[in-house]
Amino acid sequence: SLTKVFEQEYTGPIYSEGVHLVDGDGNRVTTEALDYGEGMTVYPATHPGIAKAPTVLVRYEESEYGGETRMDSVVEGYAAYSKVCTHAGCMVGGENENPLVCPCHFGKYDPTQGAAVVGGPPPRPLPQLPITQTESGELIAIGDFEAPVGAGGG
Ligand code: FES
Repeated sequence: SLTKVFEQEYTGPIYSEGVHLVDGDGNRVTTEALDYGEGMTVYPATHPGIAKAPTVLVRYEESEYGGETRMDSVVEGYAAYSKVCTHAGCMVGGENENPLVCPCHFGKYDPTQGAAVVGGPPPRPLPQLPITQTESGELIAIGDFEAPVGAGGG
């Protein structure tokens, strides 16, 4: 559709303060969404169709996080990272596992260590998304990703 074409060319912010994280059906994601050790793909409610929108949401015990993880961007054990591989822009998978794995050249990222690269060719971590929750437990962004999304820019 024309909307899809437009959104693919969108170059503005991906998330901004207060933007809800939504699932693939557009439903707001809450702190009830995942058990510990689980993950899912989410999107910014404002621009779910843009190429750089897909976001990995994971949940681990807060004691399991370390490394470069921004702990002020972790809420109720939830951390969010760009799903767009920093090597050549494929979508990483394996949200329910550690590491996250990119199917294109098997780049691997540890979601408990700030999505640090633990295998393969990616040159830098997946950018973390700063998140918090509303009074009713809905997950929202505090701002945009903390580094450029996708290949290049790093
Ligand atoms: Fe992900 Fe190459 S695009 S490892």
